[in-house]
Amino acid sequence: MSNVNKYQRSIDCLNDAVGKEISTSLQYMYFHVHMEDAGYEYLSAYFHKVAIDEMRHIEEFAERILFLEGDVNMNPAFEARQVTDVKEMLRLAIKIEQNTIDSYNEAARITSEIKDTVTHHIFQSITQSEEQHLDNFRTELQNMVDYGDKYLALQSIGHSKAIAK
Ligand SMILES: [Fe+2]
Ligand SMILES: [Fe+2]
Repeated sequence: MSNVNKYQRSIDCLNDAVGKEISTSLQYMYFHVHMEDAGYEYLSAYFHKVAIDEMRHIEEFAERILFLEGDVNMNPAFEARQVTDVKEMLRLAIKIEQNTIDSYNEAARITSEIKDTVTHHIFQSITQSEEQHLDNFRTELQNMVDYGDKYLALQSIGHSKAIAK
């Protein structure tokens, strides 16, 4: 009985989150290199930035797991998909963020139930960050729908401007 960690449910939620963050970060890094290769300056830079945000989330969750005297399962929850169409990349990113938000809201509920206030707060604040990603991806997808290839052409002009400096 003394070996039972009273925060085991928090540790499980946190490890589940670590797996999601690893996969998400790698998926966005995949999008980033493809967009950079295609010369889509701004979208490529944004995916790079978000991939790093997700890496920071891994760190935050992992530090909490160690504080609760659990251990980190540093493995991806899902495999990165080889999606190269820009609209499809944005649709997949939106789906990932939505699933993550649902899962973290549930984790926030569970950790509140077992009175682990700090883990509850971590899930709350990281969910806010994911909602910001979701909001920006939705805007980018809407721009793609509204302006189509012209929007990508503008991204390429941005690239030309940047390399001419
Ligand atoms: Fe994240
Ligand atoms: Fe995110």
